[in-house]
Amino acid sequence: MDAAWVLVGTIDDIPRQGSRRVHNGAMRIAVFRTADDRIFALEDKCPHKNGPLSAGIVHDGCVTCPLHNWVISLETGEAQGADEGRTSTFPVRIEGRNVYLDLMPTHAAR
Ligand code: FES
Repeated sequence: MDAAWVLVGTIDDIPRQGSRRVHNGAMRIAVFRTADDRIFALEDKCPHKNGPLSAGIVHDGCVTCPLHNWVISLETGEAQGADEGRTSTFPVRIEGRNVYLDLMPTHAAR
């Protein structure tokens, strides 16, 4: 299926090492910006107990869940270390300062 790119704002709308939430129907997606201005999009739902990853701390290409400190890869959505689970991730395209998401997940949650 072709990508369905949706403009969700600009890089400047997202704080460095923070995130901004966007809605896709009932689904909440957290769009993260790293310290070196890379952008990633993950479902705003920790694979542990659905904690809001958008409220987590961004570091080293990962986000730490605010509820019980699981560390989730921004690139793959995979829990790191001994924890097991994955959050859905979405492809991101940057044009100038504009951020587009493809709302078909690359990695589905499990
Ligand atoms: S809900 Fe994220 S670590 Fe528990």
